[in-house]
Amino acid sequence: MDKQKTILAVDDEPSMRRLLEISLRQAGYQPVVAADGKEALQMIKSRTIDLVVSDLHMPSMNGLELLKNIRLENETLPFIMVTAQGEIKTAVEAMKLGASDYILRPFDLETLEIAIAKALSVKRLNLENTYLKNNTHTENDGLVGLSAPMMALKQLIRQVAPEKATVLITGETGTGKELVAKAIHQHSDRKNALFVAVNCAAIPAEMLESELFGYEKGAFTGAVKDRVGKFELAEGGTIFLDEITEMPINLQAKLLRALQEGVIEKLGGNRQISLDIRVVAATNRDPLQAVKEGKLREDLYYRLNVFQLQIPALRERGEDIQLITQAYLDKKSAQISDEALQKLSAYSWPGNVRELQNVLERAAILAGGKPITPQHLPADIVSGTNFSDRQLSASQGSEAASSGGAPTLQIATEGYSIPQAIAQIERQLIVDAIAACKGNKSKAAKLLEISERSLWYKLEQYQLK
Ligand SMILES: Nc1ncnc2c1ncn2[C@@H]1O[C@H](COP(=O)(O)OP(=O)(O)OP(=O)(O)O)[C@@H](O)[C@H]1O
Ligand SMILES: [Mg+2]
Repeated sequence: MDKQKTILAVDDEPSMRRLLEISLRQAGYQPVVAADGKEALQMIKSRTIDLVVSDLHMPSMNGLELLKNIRLENETLPFIMVTAQGEIKTAVEAMKLGASDYILRPFDLETLEIAIAKALSVKRLNLENTYLKNNTHTENDGLVGLSAPMMALKQLIRQVAPEKATVLITGETGTGKELVAKAIHQHSDRKNALFVAVNCAAIPAEMLESELFGYEKGAFTGAVKDRVGKFELAEGGTIFLDEITEMPINLQAKLLRALQEGVIEKLGGNRQISLDIRVVAATNRDPLQAVKEGKLREDLYYRLNVFQLQIPALRERGEDIQLITQAYLDKKSAQISDEALQKLSAYSWPGNVRELQNVLERAAILAGGKPITPQHLPADIVSGTNFSDRQLSASQGSEAASSGGAPTLQIATEGYSIPQAIAQIERQLIVDAIAACKGNKSKAAKLLEISERSLWYKLEQYQLK
């Protein structure tokens, strides 16, 4: 549940305001109150409000008018209308005007809590959907992830892409540095020219110079014809200098000159070739530490570091583990059990996304067309000592464990709708939990870690009653 959100309760009756205030605080929200629509509007303008719960009947500006006014300026602020029995028509009108939900008086705390949690999560999903929609046509850069750090990174990529500024990408091995470099290229107006990647660690030091800058016929023994270097190849486009700290120091000086002057000189040539190239560099080391150790020239560091993009480790964006897994397995039309997914989520992934992909690839082969289960995963992932928590003990203590293992999620989503997919997962989990508990709903609720009331509510919602 979303906690620590600020909720504005609007009601003209002081006793009702007080009750709402106490209830909301008890539910873990930060309540603020207003006595009518006008006061509420002022509050919304002057501070951050995450959700509004408003009474319908109020003097000066009633709930419907308040909602209309809010929607003029804010299309997404969650709004719950409180109405009396027999006012369903008005409640429906409120929904048409963009209310998230309505609740009928008298209501208990749990009804209110559920309505709030639902409205807040719908808002979040809507935001994510809008984000996905906005990006599907422009952004097919393969960067999967909806965690806050990933969203921020994508935002930065879009901001920096159109510039010619040099970018230094840092991040642990396998975090997606090359993918990000490609994304920068794709989002720039250079996308029709080449993206040329050079791994400075993979090319022998003595060959790197000619690889980068090319040479002219006769430059050295064996140079029987001119050779175009990677820089020339990337003209008009982007050159990606991976593992920049592995470039020999003297070559770093030459690179710096090329960057500063926008010209290169081929080996054995005395012509200067001016080029229009965007340089993106990457390292999985701490660049300042590399400067200290003399592996990276300080002046080059500053020249490259015009803009730095730090890619967080996969374990710092745990929620993306499942998304990346799903995206990867979807491509292979493979499936994974819920239990295996949990093991993946609990692991620390020192090799980041690349390691995750390798594990999945291997597991999919071992599973041979059936859903991947923990037995297809490497032992250190399955035995993960950091595997949390109550879920494990809950399922161990129930019949679920003894009645034949973890339920397998078969999610048959049509399209990309997150709300639909989540609803399907939720419904499936409920069905599985009830089956595992042989129809005992109070046990099932415990297994699901929700209250019995919520379970009843959901059973109704999913027409499982
Ligand atoms: N956010 C992501 N979503 C989907 N796939 C990703 C993501 N990040 C990385 N990958 C995939 O993980 C693999 C490793 O990514 P990449 O090669 O870009 O990592 P890297 O940071 O350059 O690693 P190294 O430092 O080892 O070179 C690639 O197959 C890439 O497509
Ligand atoms: Mg790389």
